[in-house]
Amino acid sequence: MDEKTNGKIYGVIALKGGVGKTTVVENLGATFAKDFQKKVLIVDANFSTPHLGLHIGIIDPTHTLHSVLNEEYPVYQAIYHHELGFHVIPGKLSSPPTNINILKQKIEPLRRIYDIILIDSSPSLDKEILAAMIASDELLVVSSPDYPTLSSTIHAVNVAKREDTPIRGIILNKVRSKRFEISSRDISKASEVKVLAKIPENVKVLSALSQMIPIVVRYPSHEVSKSYKELASLLLDIPAKKSRISRLKDKFQSKKKEVENYD
Ligand SMILES: Nc1ncnc2c1ncn2[C@@H]1O[C@H](COP(=O)(O)OP(=O)(O)O)[C@@H](O)[C@H]1O
Ligand SMILES: [Mg+2]
Repeated sequence: MDEKTNGKIYGVIALKGGVGKTTVVENLGATFAKDFQKKVLIVDANFSTPHLGLHIGIIDPTHTLHSVLNEEYPVYQAIYHHELGFHVIPGKLSSPPTNINILKQKIEPLRRIYDIILIDSSPSLDKEILAAMIASDELLVVSSPDYPTLSSTIHAVNVAKREDTPIRGIILNKVRSKRFEISSRDISKASEVKVLAKIPENVKVLSALSQMIPIVVRYPSHEVSKSYKELASLLLDIPAKKSRISRLKDKFQSKKKEVENYD
C-alpha cells in the first residue's frame, strides 16, 4: 500500500449502548470505501463489548486490538482486509487489555496509510471512551431523538469538551419522523452541536445485520443507505447534488440579477 500522510481519525461515540455506534462505523466505513474510493480502516475500541466484527462477518478473529494493546504483536498484524474494500482491526470478547492508554500511540502511525480511520467506542464513561477520544482528531456523537438519549448526548459533549477533542457533529440515528420526537433543531440547541445527518429507523438495518453485511452494501438504494452516503459526502466536503427545485431556484435568482443589472 502507498505511504501517504494525514488521514483523518474519527471517534464514533455515545454514552449509551444501542444507539447505533457500531452500525454507523460499519456503514460509514463501507460507503467511504465503496462509493468514494477511500482507504478506510475501522477499529473496534469497544473493549467491554466488542461487536464490530460480528456486524461484518469477522466472528472469531485470531489477531485483535486487545493483543496489540497488550504488546503481543505490532498493530499491522491485527489489520484484516475485508472483502468489501475496507480494513478492520477487530476486538475480542475477553477481559479488557491492561494498557488502554496506548491506543493513540498504536493508531497514530496508521494515518500515513489510510484516508479515514473510524474508531468504534465503549458506551460507558470510563478509560475506554477516554482513550478513544484522545486517539481521535474529531468526534461523531451518535444520538437518537428522545430525552434519555439527548441527556446522554449532552453528557458526552461535555466530556469531549473537557478532553479537548473537537466534535464534528451529531449523527441522529433511528429517526421515525414522528411528532413526539425531539427535532434536530432542539437537539442542536440543547447540545450546542450541529446535527450532521438524520438516519431513518428501518427494519432493513436489522435485516442487513442478520446477514452481517452493512446496509449500504446490502440495500444500496434504500433511504438509510442514501443518508449514510450524504453524511460521507459531507464529511469529505463534497457538495451534495442539488435537487431539481433548488437548481430552478438558482436559475431564477441569476435571471433576476441579470434583469436588475440591466436596469
Ligand atoms: N437506523 C436504524 N434503524 C433500525 N435499527 C437500527 C438502526 N441503527 C442501528 N440499529 C440497530 O440497533 C441495534 C444497536 O445498534 P448498535 O450499532 O449495535 O449500537 P451501539 O454500538 O451504539 O451499541 C442493532 O440491532 C442495530 O442493527
Ligand atoms: Mg457497539
